[in-house]
Amino acid sequence: MLYGSSVIQPNGHLEIGGVDTVHLANQFGTPLYVYDVAHMRQQARAFKRAFTENNVAGQVAYASKAFSCVAMVQLVEEEGLNLDVVSGGELYTALSAGFPPERIHFHGNNKSTDEIDMAVKAGIGCFIADNFQELLLLEKASQYHGQKISVLLRTTPGVKASTHEYIATGQEDSKFGFDLESGQVHEALKYVLSHEAFDCLGLHCHIGSQIFDANAFEVAVDKIYRELELRRDDLGFVPKVLNLGGGFGIRYVEGDSAQPPEKYVGTMIEAVKRQSSRLGFAVPEIWIEPGRAIVGNAGTTLYKVGSQKEVPNVRRYLAVDGGMSDNLRPALYDAKYEGILANRGWDRCDRTMSVAGKCCETGDMLIWDLSLPEVHTDDLLAVFSTGAYGYSMSNNYNRIPRPAVVFVENGDARLVVRRETYEDLVQLDLPLKESVIP
Ligand code: LLP
Repeated sequence: MLYGSSVIQPNGHLEIGGVDTVHLANQFGTPLYVYDVAHMRQQARAFKRAFTENNVAGQVAYASKAFSCVAMVQLVEEEGLNLDVVSGGELYTALSAGFPPERIHFHGNNKSTDEIDMAVKAGIGCFIADNFQELLLLEKASQYHGQKISVLLRTTPGVKASTHEYIATGQEDSKFGFDLESGQVHEALKYVLSHEAFDCLGLHCHIGSQIFDANAFEVAVDKIYRELELRRDDLGFVPKVLNLGGGFGIRYVEGDSAQPPEKYVGTMIEAVKRQSSRLGFAVPEIWIEPGRAIVGNAGTTLYKVGSQKEVPNVRRYLAVDGGMSDNLRPALYDAKYEGILANRGWDRCDRTMSVAGKCCETGDMLIWDLSLPEVHTDDLLAVFSTGAYGYSMSNNYNRIPRPAVVFVENGDARLVVRRETYEDLVQLDLPLKESVIP
């Protein structure tokens, strides 16, 4: 399945953003992450449009954990989105990219004093407060810097969205957020409303990732409004903002029933409107935090084929020059992907092979049972939809350097992250003894 601007040219070469991927591989090497910029822009705009079309005040914050680098943050700024960060490193990247700090939201279940300090000094827009310990740290920071801190309280609404258990976060038994059922949200609200340090904008929830069923968001909204009804009655609290998180599912393989952005957001908006009118509230600003849905389908990884192994009557393994070091998702979540030969895209796919990585680990498999034509060493394999949590979870297992990242748009290719070198790999290492410095 081809996404966005991807096409197969008559010569069989896969083209993305008007650029021949065979040329990209020759120019920048492999493995290579290629991002279709037009597709990311289109997704960003679709999320924003969902609010304007429904006549609701909203904000779209890109969840930078899905894929963060300076150029990506600058693209997000160009598209007028806000930005979600979850660590000092993501915040530093955003600030290095010149992103307006007041449009940054800071997430995380264990923000350190240093991270909080860095964010307050930078003047970020708000903290999504996760727990009571953090509220104490934020209060100290407020006193130290002599300024009020805007917060949203992250709640766990007890919605078990059907997704991989490692990426489901909205259920009660989760490390994230203040639990609704046990009264933690009530306690936290009382705390922030009664302390000078805070300007409490409202509540937040994120029920999980790669969610297809838009109704799951509706269930979360209903639960939050049950809490809001009680808190209006006893604390007089009415939220200015309701942040409903990200998690919008995308299509990786056939059978993934992804919805367009307007469907997910439309369902949320309707639920918020309905519940607000039930309680006689003004409709709050609705904030969302898509990550995967903006970058996932826009990313393609190019690999060069190396060795092959036939296990008679069992399967054929095809090894490529990357693997779990550039895409951890199959090993971690049993995630599925599709791929084609990027240099012979029209050849009939009459074989079945399994694509293995080059890491020293049996579980380092990228795709099981992929239909391909006869494949030769140095053929180019394109694996689709690797744009979210591919580069961002890449690693140096086996001391494999991380690949480069290229943005393509309107026939131009721009290197936005250079390939790691062997020198980069030892850059942080220090010798055992001064005398053995090479
Ligand atoms: N907001 C919050 C509070 C989140 O925790 C997340 C993701 C997002 C937004 C963005 O979710 P998205 O729209 O990208 O699904 N590494 C996993 C995904 C972990 C997601 C963690 N939180 C994966 O590769 O599937």
